[in-house]
Amino acid sequence: MDTVSATWDDASQKQSILAPGVSTQPLAARPPVGREAILRVEHVGKRFGEIVALSDVSMSVGTGEVFGVAGPNGAGKTTLFNVIAGRFGGTGSIWFEGQDIMGWKPHRVCRHGIARTFQIPMLFSSLSVADNVRVGAHFGARKDGDERRVVAETLEQVGMSDKAGMLARHLDLMGKKLTMLAAALATGPSLLLLDEPMGGLAPAEVTEFGGLITRLNRERGITIVVIEHLVRKLVELSDRLMILYHGEQIALGPPKDVVNDPRVIELYLGTADYA
Ligand SMILES: Nc1ncnc2c1ncn2[C@@H]1O[C@H](COP(=O)(O)OP(=O)(O)OP(=O)(O)O)[C@@H](O)[C@H]1O
Ligand SMILES: [Mg+2]
Repeated sequence: MDTVSATWDDASQKQSILAPGVSTQPLAARPPVGREAILRVEHVGKRFGEIVALSDVSMSVGTGEVFGVAGPNGAGKTTLFNVIAGRFGGTGSIWFEGQDIMGWKPHRVCRHGIARTFQIPMLFSSLSVADNVRVGAHFGARKDGDERRVVAETLEQVGMSDKAGMLARHLDLMGKKLTMLAAALATGPSLLLLDEPMGGLAPAEVTEFGGLITRLNRERGITIVVIEHLVRKLVELSDRLMILYHGEQIALGPPKDVVNDPRVIELYLGTADYA
């Protein structure tokens, strides 16, 4: 069976893939070593009609952590971001800086300090790069007012200053991804959700983007949750890694342990060659 591309055509047949009595709760309840949790996802579920996109997912992300999320197509990774960021409601709780934000509208979540990028670049194509970033600066969590300075600094940070005046629709994929990242950064987030930021990029661009993620985390102290299919890159970047499979959390822990977990190899990776 091709487990990587397998989908549940009939969600009513979906069974828990965890052995009876096996609970993911101990994984989730354990705080990240040496860190306070900035985000706690507790027993989150999301259905689309008969489709169970997320089932009892729990995790906690430590302040300053890079937390990786992987899993096959349709595993619920983007849905997890959509529920955290307020695009969809769900069941369970999402604690961010001491408040349960489940069900908050996206702009409120953003102003509270959570920004995101999208799997497929979402930009105002007829606006310039700088104006796309200005939208983030205007609507975000930052209270320091000087949008022009925020835009200039953010473009500098992602290496896009020289393209500030270019229309977004004229950018290549890397340029679009960097502009979308800059717009998210301009909101002044303490938590950044990146949905497949490196998908579709050339190897040199993947290296560059990976370096940028590490710098944003280490130099700006931004906590980052990153979804990525490039598992080797995710192992390199992340402090911890979670694997989703058909809406369920099947592993969470240090990246090298997770990619060597026999169940992760069997259900997702197909080979033990990722550590
Ligand atoms: N808005 C929606 N309406 C209906 N079903 C949805 C919606 N969004 C997601 N789904 C379904 O929920 C499941 C999880 O989808 P999701 O996009 O979260 O997966 P993913 O892990 O991000 O996959 P990929 O790696 O392909 O991006 C899939 O079965 C998908 O078809
Ligand atoms: Mg997705």
